[in-house]
Amino acid sequence: MKSIQITALAGDEASRRRCQTSVLAIVELAHAQMLRLCGLLEEVADSLPASIDRRKCMMIACELEPLVRGIHRFEEETLLPAYERVLEQRGRGRGSVERLRAEHIEDECFAGELTEALLVLGRDGSVDNPEALGFMLRGFFEAQRRHVAFEREHVLPEIGCVEA
Ligand SMILES: [Fe+2]
Repeated sequence: MKSIQITALAGDEASRRRCQTSVLAIVELAHAQMLRLCGLLEEVADSLPASIDRRKCMMIACELEPLVRGIHRFEEETLLPAYERVLEQRGRGRGSVERLRAEHIEDECFAGELTEALLVLGRDGSVDNPEALGFMLRGFFEAQRRHVAFEREHVLPEIGCVEA
């Protein structure tokens, strides 16, 4: 497994390395879970309006908000403070960290709205405006995929290049 230096972590070198390995593993798992959820949401969007799997809609509705909030809290307590520190060490602005945090807030609100829509879809098996719901679903999972890609391609490598 590649090494990652979470510079915001306290403690001696050995305990910091153990934490870094765990953080990396959890972030990778979290991203995989988020992408799995995006795949499910895409399947729902593709199923509109005539091939709706009501059980799947209910299952996603139960999982969506807790998963999104849990991943965000973990990132905000480990990944983003470390990234912030890296940017500070390099004399770069905090713009991208603030943008990631803002996206988390927006996405949690969005996840709440989607949960309500999915519950209705799961309960009724139909929706008044399938085009609007499809647009809403695609807006959410496409934004999630971009967010995860940014964290994978920019945040994790940046942190990994800096010595603790
Ligand atoms: Fe994030």
